[in-house]
Amino acid sequence: MIRKHIFPILCTIWAIVLWTGCDESAQVDNPYDNQISENADGVVGIDDKSIDPTTIQGLHKLIFKPTCANSGCHDGLFEPDFRTIESSYNSLVNQPIIKNDEVDPLPARVVPGDHARSMIIRRLETDLNNNSGIMPLSVDPGSDWSTRKAEYIGYLKAWIDAGAKDLNGNSRQALDYPPRLEGMLVASGSTVYPRSGRFSPVQVPKSAGTVDVWFAYSDLESGPEAFSGLQFNHSIHYMEFDSLNWMPMQYVGTPKNAVGLNQVDVPHYFRFSLNLNSYQSGDVIWLRTRISDGTNKVELPNGNSLFNHRQYCTIRLL
Ligand code: HEM
Repeated sequence: MIRKHIFPILCTIWAIVLWTGCDESAQVDNPYDNQISENADGVVGIDDKSIDPTTIQGLHKLIFKPTCANSGCHDGLFEPDFRTIESSYNSLVNQPIIKNDEVDPLPARVVPGDHARSMIIRRLETDLNNNSGIMPLSVDPGSDWSTRKAEYIGYLKAWIDAGAKDLNGNSRQALDYPPRLEGMLVASGSTVYPRSGRFSPVQVPKSAGTVDVWFAYSDLESGPEAFSGLQFNHSIHYMEFDSLNWMPMQYVGTPKNAVGLNQVDVPHYFRFSLNLNSYQSGDVIWLRTRISDGTNKVELPNGNSLFNHRQYCTIRLL
């Protein structure tokens, strides 16, 4: 009996709900009706707060997002990734460089506390190796880069020199970067043997017998007197160095100053004597050295060094 009436009862209830629910007269405010036009494209209630331009979030708003993360550029396609504040920070600070400066290699894209050693500044101010262009490689319409470039680079330098703080204001410790090769020369007493070109071998007559070879390095954190594990090796095969042939190299308190790898005068504090008698005229002798700054044990040059740096550390016997 009851089952027969259930369906009409349900229909009645449904009709009542519909009728009362669709009350055309009930007024609901449309939040967008009160929207102020100049903020029409913003989220309601969020006004365009000014952010300190020397913070990572200020740099992202003013530079990275509008001028670097363009489609086909640093939009996740390759590093640095400027899409978000976090991706910008994590792909910049203490991050290794893909394409370094051949003349004056830098340690990282951003070195907290040191804008001069930070690649991002160099890429914004110089055409790297004269074959890379200056960033941004192109400027999208709507970017104010060309009118505010100097001001923006100033903000970036200020952020880096203040420790390259993250979104929460924390600084990341600058890494203890490894020492870098700065120079190599060969001498007999006061005679310093010449090179035929900037990265060419040092030309030494076989009759020189035993010569002094001097090396120069630089390190952001430690002085030369603090280096340890000083060794050298030599070979006529540019990739084969007998592991039993590593011999001690000395630190000399009074350096030999001469033009180095980057064509500036550098102090050469490290020396070893090399007996050339076991080599023939025409031989090219490849040199390797090992040093440690207490944190980083490095071989300079090594198998991954730029080829012109490896060739720079050679002697051609005349
Ligand atoms: C102000 C905005 C920009 C900044 C701060 C910037 C920064 C950089 C940095 C630091 C590198 C070197 C990465 C490394 O070697 O580890 C780089 C490379 C590169 N950027 Fe940008 N960039 C900007 C805008 C652009 C734009 C708009 C484009 C595309 C039109 C672009 C295209 C490239 C390309 C193709 C490379 C890799 C090739 C090379 O190293 O020359 N960048 N950029």
